[in-house]
Amino acid sequence: MADDVFSQIEPFKIKMVEPINLPDKKDRIEHLNEAGLNVFLLRGEHIVIDLLTDSGTGAMSDRQWAGLMMGDETYAGSRSFYKMEAAIQDILGFKYVIPCHQGRGAENVLHTSLIKDGDVIPGNTHFDTTKGHIEHKKGRAIDCTVKEAADPYIDLPFKGNLDLEKLESIYREYGKERIPFTVVTATCNSGGGQPVSIENMRAVKKLSEKYGIQVCLDGARYAENCYFIKMREPGMDKYSIKEISRMQAECFDMMTMSSKKDAIVNIGGFIGLRDQELYDKVKNLAILFEGFVTYGGLAGRDLEAIAVGLYEGIQEEYLGYRIGQVKFLAERLKEEGMPVMWPPGGHAVYLDMKKFLPHIGPEDLPGPAFCAELYIESGIRAVEIGTMLNGRDPETGKNRPAKLELVRLTIPRRVYTHRHMEYVVQSVKKVWERKDAIKGMDFTYEAPVLRHFTAKFKWKN
Ligand code: F0G
Repeated sequence: MADDVFSQIEPFKIKMVEPINLPDKKDRIEHLNEAGLNVFLLRGEHIVIDLLTDSGTGAMSDRQWAGLMMGDETYAGSRSFYKMEAAIQDILGFKYVIPCHQGRGAENVLHTSLIKDGDVIPGNTHFDTTKGHIEHKKGRAIDCTVKEAADPYIDLPFKGNLDLEKLESIYREYGKERIPFTVVTATCNSGGGQPVSIENMRAVKKLSEKYGIQVCLDGARYAENCYFIKMREPGMDKYSIKEISRMQAECFDMMTMSSKKDAIVNIGGFIGLRDQELYDKVKNLAILFEGFVTYGGLAGRDLEAIAVGLYEGIQEEYLGYRIGQVKFLAERLKEEGMPVMWPPGGHAVYLDMKKFLPHIGPEDLPGPAFCAELYIESGIRAVEIGTMLNGRDPETGKNRPAKLELVRLTIPRRVYTHRHMEYVVQSVKKVWERKDAIKGMDFTYEAPVLRHFTAKFKWKN
């Protein structure tokens, strides 16, 4: 690990810049009104700092851009595929690699191969698309995250861990006949970007072996998870991130990956497998859904950029900067008295709306109201993770109030500087100063499913 002083600066310099538009307040109000007060419907060019997601929004390095030029566009057997395959075998140890256009493409192919009607898939707070694909295949996701994860302030190192007793009770109840696999999401995005310990992963593997059940890693942020293991888990500091990555991957029979996160590319994903029989089965569906097994819906240049990005994503200096930037934002917000979920996760800072806007009940959408106000204040785009995202109960038609009413400030990789982060702190603070005057919202348009993407709102009177 480089001398500690290096964790205080960005371990890169900026070779190319993209100007940011700075719409004034009058324009911001107009843009937001045009978007029906839903920040999801804003145009990118009207946003000053975009903290909607860290997915596909990272800045590629000069080597990755050079890799694009070196991409081999051969339909079958592209050199870039073999380069990506070798990187995955080296860093993660999966023998069989199937490229896919992004994470949910990988989930679709793998889940279609493995899940049958009535199956259950335990895991640690499955990500929306994972849950969506499980349900699409008529399975059911069962959340087995440790109960401490529901407390936004309890300061524990691995709040993404699985509750082994709960997992075993599910294994006893359904058995391997109805559990095609267990999924471990590391870090756990829907649980606040919280990491999973190597001890917990090993225990999950041991328990699953006892019951003859396979385990799948949702590894979108696998490298960030390795960094937390190195920093927080006793005895792990002596290993490199790559060594930890191999140890982590050894706990899994298979993996789905959204390369748009820890491989620092704008598009891509893959499936990693160990078993040839399973590979043969999955391969055929991959060809049907994604494309031939050496490109999977991607251009050769994309495969090349992933191969390079996978190595950059496990560099300790990079990860120190990355996790350090998220921590910096969280600590600064906390210092200013903002209600921040603790400890901060790997890719985002979460604000607790139950404390920020306690006068707005879940039905009146505090998260979307905050996001709208933050945009008006500063041009910053954040995203609600709460009752609006949860949707309505399909049977009663009632809103499903979320356990945690959060707003996520998601940080793209290598895109924004500490001054940008300081601007975020000052802007959130300004919203805080006038929070008592902020009103709730009503829907003026609401789609029956995935309403958060297209909803429109009006302010309550
Ligand atoms: N798994 C996790 C843990 C994710 O966070 C995501 C995407 C996916 C799978 C799906 O991957 O987008 O490449 O199809 N998360 C993004 C986010 C969208 O904003 O958190 P994808």
